[in-house]
Amino acid sequence: MTTVTSTNPPKVKASVLALHGGQPAVTEPPGDLFSWPIITKEDEDAVLDCLRRGEMSGTAITMEFEKEFAAWMGVKYALGFNNGTSSILAGFFGLGLGIGDEIICTPTTIFSSALPIYTLGGTVVFADIDPDTLCIDPADIERHISPRTKAIVVVHYLGHPADMDAILSIASRHGLKVMEDVSHAQGGQYRGRKVGTFGDVTCYSLMTAKSIAIGEAGMLTTNNREIYERALAFGHYERYNAADIKTPYLKSWAGMPLGGFKNRMHQMSSSVGRVQLKHYDRRAAEIREAMNYFWDLLKGTPGLRPHRVDEKTGSTMGGWYGAHGLYRGEELGGLSVTSFCEAVRAEGVADVFPGCNKPMHTHALLNDVDVYRHGKPTRLAHSDRDLRQPLGSLPISEGVGRRVYSIPWFKHYRPNVIAQYAEAFRKVASNAALLLPNDKGNPPDLGGWSFFK
Ligand SMILES: Cc1ncc(COP(=O)(O)O)c(C=O)c1O
Repeated sequence: MTTVTSTNPPKVKASVLALHGGQPAVTEPPGDLFSWPIITKEDEDAVLDCLRRGEMSGTAITMEFEKEFAAWMGVKYALGFNNGTSSILAGFFGLGLGIGDEIICTPTTIFSSALPIYTLGGTVVFADIDPDTLCIDPADIERHISPRTKAIVVVHYLGHPADMDAILSIASRHGLKVMEDVSHAQGGQYRGRKVGTFGDVTCYSLMTAKSIAIGEAGMLTTNNREIYERALAFGHYERYNAADIKTPYLKSWAGMPLGGFKNRMHQMSSSVGRVQLKHYDRRAAEIREAMNYFWDLLKGTPGLRPHRVDEKTGSTMGGWYGAHGLYRGEELGGLSVTSFCEAVRAEGVADVFPGCNKPMHTHALLNDVDVYRHGKPTRLAHSDRDLRQPLGSLPISEGVGRRVYSIPWFKHYRPNVIAQYAEAFRKVASNAALLLPNDKGNPPDLGGWSFFK
């Protein structure tokens, strides 16, 4: 037995908050618990093979990846892109959007989900989000529909599937197209069916931070041949050949990219993509087990709610990209989410921060900026009315930063270690009253325009 002498540091009590000198809840080193993507020799060999064959700018490997991706999604067509943003722009073109057209999108996402529409002379109107799913609120979509609305963009935000039944019903009633942005929810299900198989076209970011993480890359999928061919014609000049194109009017324009863009995927990315996809379902299943375990441990903790689906409905969170929790500070005596996160970080949980994507309608680019010298804000360049949305018009998205926080994104199911992380959150929530005297509140602005800023 170790004897405590006067030269040893004083014993810290596990129940005392680490911020107040107690022992942090997390004592186990994380090891590879958070490492992503998981890279093995198989990925390395695939990349080296591409490099040694000088195939970086070709399309053969990408076309194999596309076939495998389409089969994995259970759809007819998949088209690889150099990033998710360009897949969304090509997707908008695929849908036939152009001058003066309006899309309806959530404001709580990165610019990429909506702003490529500017390039086509269209514009965006935002509908507010649901405070629990954090996805577009179907109940708010209809009041934003105008005669110029052509499409709804649905982002399955932070892995949570959006309410597709309600959205599809609105879209069909109003004759609108639906684009799904599955950048956060790859492999996720909505009521027993994969997200990304509901809309007319679906786009995916596959950049390094995502759950299918293969470098700078994107994918577009659809069951509609014309949408596929339009998306291809926009920026895949070397594949835009009259012999392969079936849509009559596109056939005669072949040879040059209609958008003047060059969008093909780098084949070192597609090489990694083929390997990553092969292992994805198994790895995502382990993530799902780990993340659900974390939330199960926190069941009933005041102030903390999971941002997850009820799996009994047949829905799942895919790869749990960007996992967050819902914060209900009113149950913790009004403790700010900023102070809550600070105390959790002190417990040994890195990367726990308040906020998520700031609401896009509050940025200058959605209000004043005249990007293309139209002599008026680009958002209104071809509009028949002022559709800007002032502060106060989308209250849930404007306040969401104070009501969410990031949580650890576990890649492995290691119950003993995950229990320490859950304990960190539980310990802080249970001791919230002790943090109130020094709570400085939240800064006016929480979150970022992207997750990296
Ligand atoms: C929801 C969403 N859509 C689109 C994108 C754009 O993808 P990329 O960064 O690959 O261009 C991202 C990625 O950052 C995203 O999070």
